[in-house]
Amino acid sequence: MVGSATTPEVLLLMGPPGAGKGTQAAKLARARGITKLSTGDLLRSNVGQGTDLGQRAKGIMAAGELVPDDLIIAMVKQEFERQGTVRVLLDGFPRTEGQAVALDAMLESFHAPMTAAVVLDVNEDELVRRLVGRAADEGRSDDNETTVRKRMEVYGHQTQPLIEYYARRGKLRRVDGMGSVADVFARISEALP
Ligand code: AP5
Repeated sequence: MVGSATTPEVLLLMGPPGAGKGTQAAKLARARGITKLSTGDLLRSNVGQGTDLGQRAKGIMAAGELVPDDLIIAMVKQEFERQGTVRVLLDGFPRTEGQAVALDAMLESFHAPMTAAVVLDVNEDELVRRLVGRAADEGRSDDNETTVRKRMEVYGHQTQPLIEYYARRGKLRRVDGMGSVADVFARISEALP
């Protein structure tokens, strides 16, 4: 069910690099009338504009490491304040337990409970196939083989534990992310309240 235009709605899309978070986030945000907030897109825009944050993040992103929590949390807080809404789809945030705890505090201050955290499950061969395809199409600086491996390792160590974090809170929805974009979208929509 899609809520009314004033009902808070906070969705999280999680999953390894190449799982389809960005692709599905764009479709879901449109379908549910909520705002997409992607920390990866925000960081890339800062890098492109050469801001202080972009200069600090550039090398870290190119190496496939995570940008420090304090920088990410400040950036997300600023976005929430700028948009003045808690009808939001978070793509790629939180990625560490520190970020998840900070998000809980932000949402509490807005009196907005989290709706659901969706994890897209995609096997490693398919992830590599998708990212290699995107490297050829778009040339993203972190889509080379060494960095992709690093991003997957970082996901396993730092972000995967959040699956348990949201499962304990009864918020987790695991969705099969294999197959066509349309099929995955249909599965996510079905899994959401
Ligand atoms: P981010 O931009 O979030 O990258 P990521 O998590 O590595 O995810 P991707 O964008 O690679 O994949 P995706 O799951 O969004 O898949 P997509 O839809 O694009 O982060 C980049 C970097 O920024 C991080 O490494 C880190 O340094 C930093 N960062 C970001 N957030 C941070 C945070 N919170 N804390 C700290 N650091 C942070 O799809 C991939 C490809 O597959 C596309 O070509 C797409 O067309 C294709 N595709 C999608 N779905 C399908 C399908 N069903 N079938 C076939 N192809 C498909």
